[in-house]
Amino acid sequence: MVSIAIDGPAGAGKSTIAKLVAEKLGYVYVDTGAMYRSIALYFLNNDIDCEDEQAVLSACQNINVEIKYEEGVQQVYLNGENVSTAIRQETVGNMASKVAAKKPVRELLLQLQRDIAASKDVIMDGRDIGTFVLPNADVKIYLTASVKTRAKRRYDQLVEKGETPDISKIEADIEQRDYQDMNREIAPLKQADDAIYLDTSDMSIDEVVEFISSKTK
Ligand code: DC
Repeated sequence: MVSIAIDGPAGAGKSTIAKLVAEKLGYVYVDTGAMYRSIALYFLNNDIDCEDEQAVLSACQNINVEIKYEEGVQQVYLNGENVSTAIRQETVGNMASKVAAKKPVRELLLQLQRDIAASKDVIMDGRDIGTFVLPNADVKIYLTASVKTRAKRRYDQLVEKGETPDISKIEADIEQRDYQDMNREIAPLKQADDAIYLDTSDMSIDEVVEFISSKTK
């Protein structure tokens, strides 16, 4: 099996790029952030305080996350319910960054991620894929862009959806998530020693897709 690991901070364009590379190469795109988001949704819906260790532990025992591919698109099921749309809210993303720092949460998802990569050619994106989940990935990319560029991209996406976002709030959320994701104790976001660093601030989507695809040849 071939695997491409893409790590990087929030809003770097990982999912957009990974989807296109997957299409081009005929691989399966695995969005691990969606798995953390589904757990965050459970915490939000059930009012679970992620600073309460016991509550986190027992919540994790009640959570079942499943990944299915329907017409080639990843669907996330939380305790049997398809939550693929619900997890896209900003509040869920911000909560995901908090729950992802908790050990029982990471343990719950690790095997699921490794099992998928063991059965298919994958391009998997997240924060700890090249460093921890798939240390032997064939290609590792650390994809990033400046905070300003990432905030502007997110802003444009939300405007396109008909929302009226506040760009300074988006920037502040991105900075906070970067800090949380890079400074947690377990599997923090960092570039793997053997990963290629790619700053996409001044690159087009096509250029990035072409660059990553060329590394698998
Ligand atoms: O990529 P995303 O915005 O969907 O991810 C949501 C959060 O999940 C992110 O802020 C940190 C966490 N996450 C993680 O800790 N490890 C991963 N492999 C993927 C996501």
